[in-house]
Amino acid sequence: MSVTILVGSQWGDEGKGKIVDLLSSNYQVVARYQGGANAGHTVEFDDKKYILHLIPSGILRPDVVCAIGNGVVIDPVALMNEIELLSKSNIDVHGRLFISQNAHLIMPYHKLLDSLSESTGKKIGTTGRGIGPSYIDKVSRKGIRIVDLLDRKVFEAKLRANIEEKNIILKKVYDHSELNVNEIVEQYLEFDRKIDPFIKDIPLLLAQAVKDGKSILLEGAQGALLDVDHGTYPFVTSSNPTVGGACTGTGLPPNKITDIMGIVKAYTTRVGEGPFPTELLDEDGEKLRKIGSEFGATTGRPRRCGWFDAFLLNYSALINGYNSVAITKLDVLDEFDKIKVCVAYEINGKRFKSFPTDVERLSLVTPVYVTLDGWNCSTKNITSYNDLPSKTKDFLSFISREIDTPVSIVSVGPKRHQTFFVN
Ligand code: GDP
Ligand code: IMO
Ligand code: MG
Repeated sequence: MSVTILVGSQWGDEGKGKIVDLLSSNYQVVARYQGGANAGHTVEFDDKKYILHLIPSGILRPDVVCAIGNGVVIDPVALMNEIELLSKSNIDVHGRLFISQNAHLIMPYHKLLDSLSESTGKKIGTTGRGIGPSYIDKVSRKGIRIVDLLDRKVFEAKLRANIEEKNIILKKVYDHSELNVNEIVEQYLEFDRKIDPFIKDIPLLLAQAVKDGKSILLEGAQGALLDVDHGTYPFVTSSNPTVGGACTGTGLPPNKITDIMGIVKAYTTRVGEGPFPTELLDEDGEKLRKIGSEFGATTGRPRRCGWFDAFLLNYSALINGYNSVAITKLDVLDEFDKIKVCVAYEINGKRFKSFPTDVERLSLVTPVYVTLDGWNCSTKNITSYNDLPSKTKDFLSFISREIDTPVSIVSVGPKRHQTFFVN
């Protein structure tokens, strides 16, 4: 039995969906613990491609039970669309997808406030899915939760109070027209019936699974450097993708966790604003984007690309305690003569002892690189570590040493079968 937390180790889009799908053949339960439909987790097999936003990637394995924890913010419209899309691919979620009663809802005014804040205030480059405003309401104790949908009177009263308050903000802060309370109440009351069959006591479900000796995979969204506490604040998301978020976001206690795995892209990408020390604004950056198809799975935005940052990964390992890492997208480096790895940051020749999480300093650092030889051949069809070219092994050993963490999985393509375990 194992209870594994799977954390995105960089700025998101590391290939979490693919690795969750791969591992979930050995797990009975997969649970999402934070974020919302800002996530885009891609899984490819049998010539089909699925992009999951809210539903755990384990749903593609018919025997896996999936849970959406209290730490996730749920847009009922996005959820229903996703359920519908899956059913069109003959994937039935009924009886094996469960949602925490304590998860907060994303309402239309959250999406509106997200876009207004982006267009008038400091731009973060959000996904526009209403994530920040929904978590603001949660923390300010005004949020509406899944459980509220079950009682029409409670739901309507909370919704009315929220919309009345938002209307004042919309008018006074953004000079925006008011929202029609009745319209939203009518539209959202409909979800009580639709969501009802999915609602479950998730801490109890997980505790029972542990008791029964089942294995549980906790699927993080986003990445460690987008964490609201440990990331590159304020250019972060509004939740905790880091390891602690898995416990608070599901109700599974820390002493039940047996394993923590970091998902690590063989280079670095970032979507949205914020400092990115190893970003490449040259031909190499363009080449990474092109070969790696680095375009957002949720918004389609081109991802910013850069070299692997081992200094950042060290910090990520420090706050998450990875027992091992899965290296993804190794094949994207196949055609590079030279591959750079950042091993330190400096400003005016002075090296940093620890990762600067304040954007003021992080924007000024100069990355210190070690240059490795590329392997200049395709790794896409390789199925075991031993068969990798020696220079590829050198690259993997180098980053494993730099981040002081063993590599347990290597991914050499988007498909399920393009992956192997390292013993
Ligand atoms: P996530 O948000 O962490 O689940 O990652 P995304 O799905 O947003 O982005 C990862 C992208 O890389 C997806 O298009 C995957 O299909 C693709 N991918 C995953 N692993 C590999 C790999 O090893 N090689 C290549 N070339 N693509 C990969
Ligand atoms: P997955 O799970 C990459 C980024 C946005 C923006 C910041 C805040 O697919 O790895 P938000 O909408 O969350 O308020 O935006 O976070 N961001 C992601 N970047 N992958 C993601 O998810 C992301 N989810 C949010 O681009 O910079
Ligand atoms: Mg993604």
